[in-house]
Amino acid sequence: MVKPVRILYVDDSVLDRELVRDAFEQEGGRFAITEASSWSEFNACLAEGPYDVVLTDFNIRGVEGIQILDQVKSKMPDVPVVIITGTGSEQVAAETMRRGAADYVIKSTRHIRRLPFAIDAVLTRHRLQEQERKAVESLRESNTRLEKALEEVSQMQKRLIRKERLNALGQMASGVVHDFNSSLMCIIGACECVISNPCMLDKKDEMMSLTKLILSSARDAENIVQRLRKLHTNEDTSFSPVIVEQAAKEAVEMTEHKWKKQAASEGKKIDIEVSAPKIPSIMADESQIRELLINLINNAVDAMPKGGAIKIQGQQDGKWAMIKVIDNGEGMTEEVRQHCLEAFFSTKGKKGTGMGLAMADGIVIRHGGTIEVQSERGKGTTFVIRLPLEQPAARK
Ligand SMILES: Nc1ncnc2c1ncn2[C@@H]1O[C@H](COP(=O)(O)OP(=O)(O)OP(=O)(O)O)[C@@H](O)[C@H]1O
Ligand SMILES: [Mg+2]
Repeated sequence: MVKPVRILYVDDSVLDRELVRDAFEQEGGRFAITEASSWSEFNACLAEGPYDVVLTDFNIRGVEGIQILDQVKSKMPDVPVVIITGTGSEQVAAETMRRGAADYVIKSTRHIRRLPFAIDAVLTRHRLQEQERKAVESLRESNTRLEKALEEVSQMQKRLIRKERLNALGQMASGVVHDFNSSLMCIIGACECVISNPCMLDKKDEMMSLTKLILSSARDAENIVQRLRKLHTNEDTSFSPVIVEQAAKEAVEMTEHKWKKQAASEGKKIDIEVSAPKIPSIMADESQIRELLINLINNAVDAMPKGGAIKIQGQQDGKWAMIKVIDNGEGMTEEVRQHCLEAFFSTKGKKGTGMGLAMADGIVIRHGGTIEVQSERGKGTTFVIRLPLEQPAARK
Protein backbone atom coordinates (compact mmCIF):
# COMPACT_ATOMS: atom_id res chain seq x y z
CA MET A 1 0.00 0.00 0.00
CA VAL A 2 1.19 3.51 -0.79
CA LYS A 3 2.15 5.42 2.33
CA PRO A 4 -0.16 8.37 3.07
CA VAL A 5 1.19 11.88 2.68
CA ARG A 6 2.00 13.16 6.18
CA ILE A 7 0.68 16.69 6.67
CA LEU A 8 1.10 18.96 9.67
CA TYR A 9 -1.75 21.42 9.49
CA VAL A 10 -1.71 24.55 11.67
CA ASP A 11 -4.87 26.61 12.02
CA ASP A 12 -6.68 28.16 15.00
CA SER A 13 -10.10 28.19 13.31
CA VAL A 14 -12.15 25.11 14.22
CA LEU A 15 -14.42 25.64 11.27
CA ASP A 16 -11.64 25.94 8.74
CA ARG A 17 -9.94 22.87 10.20
CA GLU A 18 -13.13 20.89 9.68
CA LEU A 19 -13.39 22.04 6.08
CA VAL A 20 -9.75 21.19 5.37
CA ARG A 21 -9.97 17.83 7.17
CA ASP A 22 -13.07 17.02 5.15
CA ALA A 23 -11.34 17.88 1.89
CA PHE A 24 -8.49 15.49 2.64
CA GLU A 25 -10.79 12.72 3.92
CA GLN A 26 -12.52 12.78 0.55
CA GLU A 27 -9.27 11.33 -0.82
CA GLY A 28 -9.79 8.03 0.99
CA GLY A 29 -6.73 7.75 3.22
CA ARG A 30 -4.18 9.23 0.82
CA PHE A 31 -3.36 11.85 3.45
CA ALA A 32 -2.56 11.56 7.19
CA ILE A 33 -3.23 14.85 8.92
CA THR A 34 -1.83 16.05 12.25
CA GLU A 35 -3.58 19.21 13.43
CA ALA A 36 -2.25 22.04 15.61
CA SER A 37 -4.23 25.09 16.68
CA SER A 38 -1.56 27.17 18.46
CA TRP A 39 2.15 27.99 18.45
CA SER A 40 2.84 25.57 21.32
CA GLU A 41 0.84 22.75 19.75
CA PHE A 42 2.58 23.36 16.46
CA ASN A 43 6.01 23.10 18.12
CA ALA A 44 5.05 19.93 19.98
CA CYS A 45 3.74 18.33 16.75
CA LEU A 46 6.79 19.47 14.79
CA ALA A 47 9.04 17.72 17.30
CA GLU A 48 7.06 14.50 16.78
CA GLY A 49 7.47 14.60 12.96
CA PRO A 50 8.55 13.71 10.33
CA TYR A 51 6.15 15.30 7.83
CA ASP A 52 6.05 15.46 4.07
CA VAL A 53 4.48 18.92 4.04
CA VAL A 54 3.37 21.65 6.47
CA LEU A 55 0.15 23.49 5.74
CA THR A 56 -0.43 26.61 7.78
CA ASP A 57 -2.92 29.39 8.13
CA PHE A 58 -1.35 32.81 7.86
CA ASN A 59 -3.13 34.39 10.84
CA ILE A 60 -3.05 32.34 14.03
CA ARG A 61 -3.60 33.95 17.36
CA GLY A 62 -0.40 35.67 18.50
CA VAL A 63 1.67 34.11 15.72
CA GLU A 64 2.32 35.03 12.12
CA GLY A 65 2.48 32.50 9.35
CA ILE A 66 6.01 33.76 8.65
CA GLN A 67 7.16 32.53 12.09
CA ILE A 68 5.74 29.08 11.37
CA LEU A 69 7.53 29.11 8.02
CA ASP A 70 10.87 30.11 9.62
CA GLN A 71 10.52 27.48 12.33
CA VAL A 72 9.90 24.70 9.77
CA LYS A 73 12.81 25.92 7.62
CA SER A 74 15.13 25.80 10.63
CA LYS A 75 13.97 22.43 12.04
CA MET A 76 13.11 20.55 8.83
CA PRO A 77 14.69 22.47 5.95
CA ASP A 78 13.64 19.88 3.35
CA VAL A 79 9.92 20.03 4.14
CA PRO A 80 7.84 22.31 1.90
CA VAL A 81 5.45 24.78 3.58
CA VAL A 82 2.12 25.74 2.02
CA ILE A 83 0.36 28.86 3.34
CA ILE A 84 -3.43 29.24 3.45
CA THR A 85 -4.54 32.85 3.52
CA GLY A 86 -7.85 34.64 3.49
CA THR A 87 -8.89 36.44 0.33
CA GLY A 88 -7.29 39.84 -0.06
CA SER A 89 -4.00 38.68 1.52
CA GLU A 90 -2.38 37.75 -1.79
CA GLN A 91 0.38 40.30 -1.27
CA VAL A 92 1.30 38.76 2.09
CA ALA A 93 1.22 35.33 0.47
CA ALA A 94 3.58 36.48 -2.28
CA GLU A 95 5.96 37.74 0.41
CA THR A 96 5.92 34.33 2.13
CA MET A 97 6.75 32.71 -1.24
CA ARG A 98 9.78 34.98 -1.45
CA ARG A 99 10.78 33.84 2.04
CA GLY A 100 10.72 30.19 0.99
CA ALA A 101 7.09 28.98 1.11
CA ALA A 102 6.37 26.33 -1.54
CA ASP A 103 2.92 27.64 -2.44
CA TYR A 104 -0.14 29.42 -1.10
CA VAL A 105 -3.84 28.61 -1.24
CA ILE A 106 -6.72 31.07 -0.85
CA LYS A 107 -9.07 30.20 1.98
CA SER A 108 -12.33 29.76 0.09
CA THR A 109 -14.57 26.75 -0.07
CA ARG A 110 -13.68 26.17 -3.71
CA HIS A 111 -9.94 26.38 -3.06
CA ILE A 112 -10.07 24.28 0.07
CA ARG A 113 -11.79 21.52 -1.91
CA ARG A 114 -8.90 21.58 -4.31
CA LEU A 115 -6.29 21.48 -1.49
CA PRO A 116 -5.34 17.77 -2.00
CA PHE A 117 -4.40 18.50 -5.64
CA ALA A 118 -2.49 21.62 -4.63
CA ILE A 119 -0.53 19.53 -2.09
CA ASP A 120 0.12 16.82 -4.73
CA ALA A 121 1.44 19.48 -7.11
CA VAL A 122 3.65 21.00 -4.40
CA LEU A 123 5.10 17.57 -3.54
CA THR A 124 5.73 16.69 -7.19
CA ARG A 125 7.43 20.02 -7.74
CA HIS A 126 9.40 19.60 -4.54
CA ARG A 127 10.52 16.11 -5.57
CA LEU A 128 11.63 17.39 -8.98
CA GLN A 129 13.47 20.30 -7.36
CA GLU A 130 15.16 17.87 -4.96
CA GLN A 131 16.19 15.61 -7.85
CA GLU A 132 17.53 18.60 -9.72
CA ARG A 133 19.38 19.85 -6.64
CA LYS A 134 20.90 16.38 -6.09
CA ALA A 135 21.88 16.12 -9.76
CA VAL A 136 23.48 19.57 -9.66
CA GLU A 137 25.26 18.65 -6.43
CA SER A 138 26.59 15.38 -7.81
CA LEU A 139 27.61 17.19 -11.00
CA ARG A 140 29.42 19.76 -8.90
CA GLU A 141 31.09 16.98 -6.91
CA SER A 142 32.23 15.09 -10.00
CA ASN A 143 33.38 18.39 -11.45
CA THR A 144 35.48 19.04 -8.36
CA ARG A 145 36.83 15.49 -8.57
CA LEU A 146 37.64 15.99 -12.25
CA GLU A 147 39.34 19.30 -11.55
CA LYS A 148 41.39 17.64 -8.83
CA ALA A 149 42.35 14.76 -11.14
CA LEU A 150 43.24 17.25 -13.87
CA GLU A 151 45.41 19.20 -11.46
CA GLU A 152 47.14 15.97 -10.42
CA VAL A 153 47.76 15.02 -14.07
CA SER A 154 49.13 18.47 -14.80
CA GLN A 155 51.43 18.29 -11.75
CA MET A 156 52.57 14.83 -12.82
CA GLN A 157 53.16 16.12 -16.34
CA LYS A 158 55.27 18.96 -14.98
CA ARG A 159 57.29 16.52 -12.87
CA LEU A 160 57.76 14.24 -15.90
CA ILE A 161 58.85 17.10 -18.15
CA ARG A 162 61.32 18.21 -15.50
CA LYS A 163 62.64 14.67 -15.18
CA GLU A 164 62.90 14.34 -18.96
CA ARG A 165 64.75 17.65 -19.13
CA LEU A 166 67.15 16.54 -16.43
CA ASN A 167 67.65 13.24 -18.28
CA ALA A 168 68.31 15.07 -21.54
CA LEU A 169 70.71 17.41 -19.79
CA GLY A 170 72.54 14.50 -18.17
CA GLN A 171 72.62 12.72 -21.51
CA MET A 172 74.01 15.77 -23.26
CA ALA A 173 76.62 16.36 -20.58
CA SER A 174 77.75 12.73 -20.77
CA GLY A 175 77.96 12.93 -24.57
CA VAL A 176 80.01 16.11 -24.43
CA VAL A 177 82.35 14.58 -21.85
CA HIS A 178 82.65 11.46 -24.03
CA ASP A 179 83.62 13.29 -27.22
CA PHE A 180 85.71 15.90 -25.43
CA ASN A 181 87.64 13.01 -23.93
CA SER A 182 88.12 11.47 -27.40
CA SER A 183 89.68 14.75 -28.60
CA LEU A 184 91.92 14.88 -25.55
CA MET A 185 93.03 11.29 -26.19
CA CYS A 186 94.10 12.33 -29.72
CA ILE A 187 96.14 15.24 -28.36
CA ILE A 188 97.68 13.16 -25.56
CA GLY A 189 98.48 10.37 -28.05
CA ALA A 190 100.26 12.75 -30.43
CA CYS A 191 102.29 14.39 -27.63
CA GLU A 192 103.28 11.00 -26.20
CA CYS A 193 104.40 9.97 -29.68
CA VAL A 194 106.90 12.86 -29.83
CA ILE A 195 108.10 12.33 -26.27
CA SER A 196 108.77 8.64 -26.84
CA ASN A 197 110.46 9.36 -30.22
CA PRO A 198 112.54 12.52 -29.62
CA CYS A 199 114.23 12.03 -32.99
CA MET A 200 110.94 13.14 -34.55
CA LEU A 201 111.79 16.68 -33.47
CA ASP A 202 114.41 16.77 -36.23
CA LYS A 203 111.87 15.82 -38.91
CA LYS A 204 110.26 19.09 -39.87
CA ASP A 205 107.51 17.67 -42.10
CA GLU A 206 106.42 14.98 -39.62
CA MET A 207 106.40 17.53 -36.80
CA MET A 208 104.35 19.89 -38.89
CA SER A 209 101.67 17.30 -39.67
CA LEU A 210 101.62 16.13 -36.03
CA THR A 211 101.19 19.72 -34.86
CA LYS A 212 98.33 20.17 -37.37
CA LEU A 213 96.74 17.02 -35.97
CA ILE A 214 97.02 18.33 -32.41
CA LEU A 215 95.54 21.66 -33.51
CA SER A 216 92.72 19.89 -35.33
CA SER A 217 91.86 17.82 -32.24
CA ALA A 218 91.99 20.91 -30.05
CA ARG A 219 89.68 22.72 -32.51
CA ASP A 220 87.29 19.78 -32.37
CA ALA A 221 87.27 20.00 -28.58
CA GLU A 222 86.62 23.72 -28.89
CA ASN A 223 83.80 22.97 -31.30
CA ILE A 224 82.21 20.57 -28.85
CA VAL A 225 82.15 23.31 -26.23
CA GLN A 226 80.83 25.79 -28.84
CA ARG A 227 78.02 23.40 -29.64
CA LEU A 228 77.00 23.36 -26.01
CA ARG A 229 76.97 27.15 -25.99
CA LYS A 230 74.96 27.32 -29.22
CA LEU A 231 72.46 24.88 -27.80
CA HIS A 232 72.01 27.26 -24.92
CA THR A 233 71.62 30.36 -27.10
CA ASN A 234 69.60 28.57 -29.81
CA GLU A 235 72.01 29.56 -32.55
CA ASP A 236 72.19 27.50 -35.70
CA THR A 237 75.17 25.33 -36.54
CA SER A 238 77.03 26.73 -39.51
CA PHE A 239 77.76 24.28 -42.31
CA SER A 240 80.44 24.53 -44.96
CA PRO A 241 81.58 22.20 -47.78
CA VAL A 242 83.33 19.15 -46.33
CA ILE A 243 85.34 16.61 -48.32
CA VAL A 244 84.33 13.28 -46.82
CA GLU A 245 87.55 11.49 -47.74
CA GLN A 246 89.65 14.17 -46.06
CA ALA A 247 87.50 14.15 -42.91
CA ALA A 248 87.78 10.35 -42.79
CA LYS A 249 91.56 10.43 -43.19
CA GLU A 250 91.85 12.98 -40.41
CA ALA A 251 89.65 10.86 -38.16
CA VAL A 252 91.93 7.90 -38.86
CA GLU A 253 95.01 9.97 -38.02
CA MET A 254 93.45 11.33 -34.89
CA THR A 255 92.70 7.85 -33.60
CA GLU A 256 96.14 6.44 -34.43
CA HIS A 257 97.08 6.31 -30.77
CA LYS A 258 94.24 3.81 -30.30
CA TRP A 259 94.14 1.63 -33.41
CA LYS A 260 97.87 1.61 -34.04
CA LYS A 261 99.89 2.25 -30.89
CA GLN A 262 97.54 0.91 -28.21
CA ALA A 263 96.70 -2.08 -30.42
CA ALA A 264 100.42 -2.78 -30.98
CA SER A 265 101.07 -2.61 -27.24
CA GLU A 266 98.30 -5.24 -26.80
CA GLY A 267 99.96 -7.39 -29.45
CA LYS A 268 97.31 -6.98 -32.16
CA LYS A 269 97.38 -5.43 -35.60
CA ILE A 270 94.61 -3.32 -37.06
CA ASP A 271 94.58 -2.01 -40.61
CA ILE A 272 92.44 0.90 -41.70
CA GLU A 273 91.69 1.75 -45.28
CA VAL A 274 89.88 4.86 -46.50
CA SER A 275 88.42 5.05 -49.97
CA ALA A 276 85.93 7.67 -51.02
CA PRO A 277 86.61 8.25 -54.65
CA LYS A 278 85.21 11.48 -55.96
CA ILE A 279 82.07 11.97 -53.97
CA PRO A 280 81.10 15.62 -54.06
CA SER A 281 81.74 17.55 -50.88
CA ILE A 282 78.83 17.67 -48.45
CA MET A 283 77.47 20.68 -46.60
CA ALA A 284 78.28 19.84 -43.02
CA ASP A 285 80.01 20.77 -39.82
CA GLU A 286 83.46 19.29 -40.45
CA SER A 287 84.42 18.78 -36.87
CA GLN A 288 81.15 16.94 -36.17
CA ILE A 289 81.78 14.63 -39.15
CA ARG A 290 85.23 13.84 -37.73
CA GLU A 291 83.69 13.29 -34.29
CA LEU A 292 81.18 10.87 -35.81
CA LEU A 293 83.85 8.85 -37.60
CA ILE A 294 86.17 8.86 -34.57
CA ASN A 295 83.38 7.29 -32.51
CA LEU A 296 82.80 4.58 -35.12
CA ILE A 297 86.54 3.84 -35.45
CA ASN A 298 86.97 3.62 -31.66
CA ASN A 299 84.06 1.16 -31.44
CA ALA A 300 85.42 -0.94 -34.32
CA VAL A 301 88.81 -1.17 -32.59
CA ASP A 302 87.11 -2.25 -29.33
CA ALA A 303 85.26 -4.95 -31.29
CA MET A 304 88.52 -6.47 -32.57
CA PRO A 305 90.39 -7.89 -29.56
CA LYS A 306 92.57 -9.98 -31.87
CA GLY A 307 93.09 -7.32 -34.50
CA GLY A 308 91.48 -7.02 -37.92
CA ALA A 309 90.60 -4.57 -40.64
CA ILE A 310 88.46 -1.44 -40.82
CA LYS A 311 87.29 0.01 -44.11
CA ILE A 312 85.81 3.47 -44.51
CA GLN A 313 84.12 3.72 -47.87
CA GLY A 314 82.38 6.70 -49.36
CA GLN A 315 80.22 6.87 -52.44
CA GLN A 316 77.41 8.90 -53.89
CA ASP A 317 73.90 7.46 -53.56
CA GLY A 318 71.55 9.81 -55.42
CA LYS A 319 71.27 12.99 -53.37
CA TRP A 320 73.17 11.39 -50.52
CA ALA A 321 76.76 10.86 -49.60
CA MET A 322 76.85 7.29 -48.33
CA ILE A 323 79.63 6.50 -45.88
CA LYS A 324 80.20 2.93 -44.72
CA VAL A 325 82.38 2.04 -41.76
CA ILE A 326 83.03 -1.70 -41.98
CA ASP A 327 84.87 -3.87 -39.50
CA ASN A 328 85.46 -7.59 -39.31
CA GLY A 329 85.34 -7.70 -35.53
CA GLU A 330 83.10 -9.63 -33.12
CA GLY A 331 79.84 -8.17 -34.40
CA MET A 332 76.70 -7.69 -32.30
CA THR A 333 73.81 -9.84 -31.20
CA GLU A 334 70.45 -8.76 -32.61
CA GLU A 335 69.48 -7.27 -29.24
CA VAL A 336 72.66 -5.17 -29.01
CA ARG A 337 72.20 -4.07 -32.63
CA GLN A 338 68.70 -2.82 -31.85
CA HIS A 339 69.76 -0.83 -28.79
CA CYS A 340 73.30 0.28 -29.63
CA LEU A 341 72.30 3.84 -30.63
CA GLU A 342 70.57 4.50 -27.32
CA ALA A 343 72.26 6.80 -24.82
CA PHE A 344 74.02 4.96 -21.99
CA PHE A 345 73.71 1.60 -23.73
CA SER A 346 77.03 -0.23 -23.48
CA THR A 347 78.24 -3.81 -23.27
CA LYS A 348 81.67 -2.69 -22.08
CA GLY A 349 80.95 -2.38 -18.38
CA LYS A 350 83.03 0.32 -16.69
CA LYS A 351 85.13 0.76 -19.84
CA GLY A 352 82.27 2.30 -21.83
CA THR A 353 79.83 5.13 -21.21
CA GLY A 354 77.43 4.09 -23.96
CA MET A 355 77.46 7.64 -25.33
CA GLY A 356 79.61 7.16 -28.46
CA LEU A 357 76.87 5.99 -30.79
CA ALA A 358 74.25 8.26 -29.19
CA MET A 359 76.49 11.21 -30.06
CA ALA A 360 77.07 9.80 -33.56
CA ASP A 361 73.32 9.43 -34.02
CA GLY A 362 72.77 13.00 -32.80
CA ILE A 363 75.28 14.33 -35.32
CA VAL A 364 73.64 12.43 -38.19
CA ILE A 365 70.20 13.72 -37.16
CA ARG A 366 71.48 17.31 -36.95
CA HIS A 367 72.73 16.90 -40.52
CA GLY A 368 69.40 15.57 -41.77
CA GLY A 369 70.87 12.13 -42.46
CA THR A 370 70.29 8.52 -41.43
CA ILE A 371 72.34 5.85 -39.72
CA GLU A 372 71.84 2.13 -40.22
CA VAL A 373 73.55 -0.67 -38.30
CA GLN A 374 74.19 -4.02 -39.98
CA SER A 375 75.83 -6.60 -37.77
CA GLU A 376 76.05 -10.27 -37.08
CA ARG A 377 77.75 -11.95 -34.18
CA GLY A 378 81.16 -13.25 -35.31
CA LYS A 379 80.93 -11.63 -38.72
CA GLY A 380 81.64 -7.98 -38.09
CA THR A 381 79.69 -4.76 -38.28
CA THR A 382 78.87 -2.18 -40.92
CA PHE A 383 77.54 1.29 -40.12
CA VAL A 384 75.87 2.88 -43.14
CA ILE A 385 75.53 6.65 -42.87
CA ARG A 386 73.70 8.77 -45.40
CA LEU A 387 74.19 12.52 -45.31
CA PRO A 388 72.47 14.88 -47.74
CA LEU A 389 74.88 16.35 -50.29
CA GLU A 390 73.14 19.68 -49.91
CA GLN A 391 71.69 21.06 -46.72
CA PRO A 392 68.21 22.50 -47.33
CA ALA A 393 68.41 24.42 -44.06
CA ALA A 394 71.00 24.47 -41.36
CA ARG A 395 69.94 22.46 -38.39
CA LYS A 396 71.04 22.60 -34.83
N1 LIG B 1 81.69 -1.87 -34.36
C1 LIG B 1 81.04 -2.49 -33.38
N2 LIG B 1 81.10 -3.84 -33.26
C2 LIG B 1 80.47 -4.48 -32.26
N3 LIG B 1 79.74 -3.88 -31.32
C3 LIG B 1 79.63 -2.55 -31.38
C4 LIG B 1 80.27 -1.79 -32.40
N4 LIG B 1 79.97 -0.48 -32.21
C5 LIG B 1 79.17 -0.44 -31.14
N5 LIG B 1 78.96 -1.66 -30.62
C6 LIG B 1 78.10 -2.01 -29.47
O1 LIG B 1 77.29 -0.89 -29.17
C7 LIG B 1 77.47 -0.50 -27.83
C8 LIG B 1 77.28 1.00 -27.72
O2 LIG B 1 78.35 1.70 -28.35
P1 LIG B 1 78.71 3.15 -27.84
O3 LIG B 1 79.83 3.67 -28.65
O4 LIG B 1 77.49 3.95 -27.78
O5 LIG B 1 79.16 2.95 -26.34
P2 LIG B 1 80.47 2.21 -25.83
O6 LIG B 1 81.44 2.07 -26.94
O7 LIG B 1 80.05 0.99 -25.11
O8 LIG B 1 81.02 3.24 -24.77
P3 LIG B 1 82.06 4.44 -25.12
O9 LIG B 1 81.65 4.97 -26.43
O10 LIG B 1 81.90 5.38 -24.00
O11 LIG B 1 83.40 3.82 -25.16
C9 LIG B 1 78.83 -0.99 -27.45
O12 LIG B 1 78.96 -1.20 -26.05
C10 LIG B 1 78.91 -2.29 -28.23
O13 LIG B 1 78.26 -3.35 -27.56
MG1 LIG C 1 81.90 3.79 -28.20
